[in-house]
Amino acid sequence: MDEIIIKGGKALSGEVTVGGAKNAALPILAATLLTGGKFRFQNVPDLRDIDSIKELLATMGADVQTGDGEVHIDTAGLNHYEAPYEQVRKMRASILVLGPLLARMKKAKVSLPGGCAIGARPIDLHLNGLELLGADIALEHGYVEAACDQLTGAEIYFDIPTVTGTENLMMAATLAIGTTVLRNAAREPEIIALADVLNQMGADISGAGTAVITIKGVKHLFPVDTAIIPDRIEAGTLMVAAALTRGNVHIKDCDPLHLKAIVHKLEKTGATVTADATSLTVKGNGPINSIDIKTMPYPGFPTDMQAQFMVLLSVAKGFSVISETIFENRFIHVSELRRMGADITISGSHAMIKGVKSLSGAPVMATDLRASASLILAGLAASGTTTVSRVYHLDRGYEFLEKKLALLGAAIKRVPAQTKP
Ligand code: EPU
Repeated sequence: MDEIIIKGGKALSGEVTVGGAKNAALPILAATLLTGGKFRFQNVPDLRDIDSIKELLATMGADVQTGDGEVHIDTAGLNHYEAPYEQVRKMRASILVLGPLLARMKKAKVSLPGGCAIGARPIDLHLNGLELLGADIALEHGYVEAACDQLTGAEIYFDIPTVTGTENLMMAATLAIGTTVLRNAAREPEIIALADVLNQMGADISGAGTAVITIKGVKHLFPVDTAIIPDRIEAGTLMVAAALTRGNVHIKDCDPLHLKAIVHKLEKTGATVTADATSLTVKGNGPINSIDIKTMPYPGFPTDMQAQFMVLLSVAKGFSVISETIFENRFIHVSELRRMGADITISGSHAMIKGVKSLSGAPVMATDLRASASLILAGLAASGTTTVSRVYHLDRGYEFLEKKLALLGAAIKRVPAQTKP
């Protein structure tokens, strides 16, 4: 297992390019299961989670080839409808194959994903929705077994706007008979990206990006040649890195329209942000102001940026409060940040952060994807050396993060973990 070693204290400067969005690529690659034929995707990030979905598609009989940021998938020979535990336990988002498999193969068997470090993360809303579309669902031996003769359009109301739940139902409904209406749907840019690709494939979806999505079922879908949108969370993480180190960084190939909540909060901390259609420049200035943040479904402040902003606020003037409303256990990075000198108190879903003058480098352990990014940011700002271990969490969702930061002037390198006696 690799470690990342950072010598803190360098202001970042220069240009950096954002890669394709993990959370858009995952449902879009799963959508290839909806029809047979040859797909080509560009701007697919090189990540462990993307490897996991590619392996899963291959298990189902798809031919998957990768090279130069492109993924070619041929789903003509699909012959299997099971997502086994060994694969689903590596990545919860494997549940995204459930809707497409059911729509195309009329049956699916997918291991229940279970909880993860950040919360229990049930999938009841996915399953209720599929039942409303006419699927028979049974939970047996740790698996969801779903079957149908033909899915039929329905009105589905989500108690909570769920991202992958909305995606699963949207995909299943494309081949249903009649019209499906998803209410209180998630509105993330990744939902719009998936709907765009499904529409290119011949689906009839309107309203994606609003709380009400209408899907008129069609008889056939077709393969497409398309590209993945930029990763707004990678862009946001780089923005925080620039502000935190009082740097000046031009972030290219991103979509500033997807980053409004992040820009708004970053400006309140005192950073200067300028944007054009496809890039942003972030300049960190003088002292960092304390602010309060509440995570919300899009277009609110993303839970996937909470840990990174916590690092920034750890070295701000005064007190900040972060309220996490999406996941019940997404403060696991706090104990590691405290070991680096941060003054953070947790009370239920609130983190009270008293800004300190500086953080001090320490050996720390990554516990989940966004927590790993926060520890790397903390290392960039800290005095002395920080060693982040268990970076396989980082590799699930950040493409070459340490290389991108090094190109911006950070003293950061990846090394194979030292064998401890
Ligand atoms: N929920 C339920 N029942 C369900 C589904 C969700 O109660 O059937 C609850 C969840 O427990 C949570 C809330 O609804 O409290 C929202 O969860 P959601 O379903 O939206 O999360 P997700 O689809 O599992 C996606 C991203 C996450 C991101 C969340 C929130 C992907 C592959 N994953 O997860 O990304 O944090 O939306 O925006 O799109 C990450 O990239 O690090 C990551 C965790």
